[in-house]
Amino acid sequence: MKPVKVGICGLGTVGGGTFNVLQRNAAEIARRAGRRIQIEQIGMRRPNPACDTKGMHVTADVFEVATNPEIDIVIELIGGYDVAYKLVMTAIENGKHVVTANKALIAVHGNEIFAAAQEKNVMVAFEASVAGGIPIIKALREGLSANKINWLAGIINGTGNFIMTEMREKGRDFQDVLAEAQALGYAEADPTFDVEGIDAAHKLTILASIAYGIPLQFDKAYTEGISRITAEDVKYAEELGYRIKHLGISRRTAQGIELRVHPTMVPQQALIANVNGVMNAVLVDGDAVGQTLYYGPGAGAEPTASAVIADVVDVVRTLTADRDNRVPHLAFQPGELSDAEVLPVDQIESGYYLRIMAVERPGVLAHITRILGDKGINIEAITQKQTEEAQVPVILLTQSVKEEKMNQAIREIEALPDIVGEVVRIRVEHLGQ
Ligand code: HSE
Repeated sequence: MKPVKVGICGLGTVGGGTFNVLQRNAAEIARRAGRRIQIEQIGMRRPNPACDTKGMHVTADVFEVATNPEIDIVIELIGGYDVAYKLVMTAIENGKHVVTANKALIAVHGNEIFAAAQEKNVMVAFEASVAGGIPIIKALREGLSANKINWLAGIINGTGNFIMTEMREKGRDFQDVLAEAQALGYAEADPTFDVEGIDAAHKLTILASIAYGIPLQFDKAYTEGISRITAEDVKYAEELGYRIKHLGISRRTAQGIELRVHPTMVPQQALIANVNGVMNAVLVDGDAVGQTLYYGPGAGAEPTASAVIADVVDVVRTLTADRDNRVPHLAFQPGELSDAEVLPVDQIESGYYLRIMAVERPGVLAHITRILGDKGINIEAITQKQTEEAQVPVILLTQSVKEEKMNQAIREIEALPDIVGEVVRIRVEHLGQ
């Protein structure tokens, strides 16, 4: 059979990994796909020293790849929204299938891209966009298709997890660890995407759409980064039997869908609390299967290439199928997407860790607990740390409560005369533990 011809756009970290794995494992991949996969053209602005492209058809204009009549599948690995968006739409317009690792593009423009692809009867595959090498999209979209998904929670940004782990285990400095993640090719071009939770929110948006069959709604995702986590809170969390992880959490409730990325305290014994370094993990709760956990490298050249190439193989296997006989982009048939509302963050429910700086005076704790009690907020633990200062940290753990109630309580606590500064709040999740 004739080989399938692919064009790679972008020969950076992931593009380079894809190029090398496609060549190294060509025979094994062809045995799976049923046809040889030939790199017909490469669109790149800069050569990658890790790739030997001698004798290859190389262009600096990625649009040449998208319009090249020889090419069946365009592999978009340039990242970002602008050029990547135009490139993918041009490729679809020209009847090409697309494989992409671009979570930002899918989370923000996916609805439009999938509609164009349906129209043109081509596939857009994006396994590598979430959790690097972990086949989580395949698992959710196909392996769990019998289930009603109740919730999912994941460590879906390797850079952020690497930073938190190194800071906690080795006491390293935030900037120093971030610089290492950049050198290793894990971090986004703009690393605030990693640290502020934007990258994780892109990925969570995609996972939630596939889990519940809702359109992509990145603009409704709540994001809170890790840059304000202090060593003090890490220590107090450990003392209480918890660990702070930067989680993406999505839950289906009777009121709507929760979609949120924020630092989260999880029980130390939870498997996800022990996912360290650049590793990612996604925990999924389905009504039939119960909980399943997917763990693996969430970034890096070849782990991400593994997902990109798996998508290429999937596309090759269904090249001759029509759109009604392929796995739908968002797991549910396009006409069957639900209009369930994505809830604003004050409507979510969660447990809370509060750190309150209080003047050491009789009655202060009573005032705090009265405010919480009046709002029906159950306290699970309360402790006052001893210091030499006139002000002492009061640490509180509460049971699950609606965030809007907790916001009111925090405002009232902050207004007490013996409370100094802002109350620090970290959400607590037990994740079925
Ligand atoms: N910057 C991302 C991360 C790369 O650190 O997880 C993989 O999407």
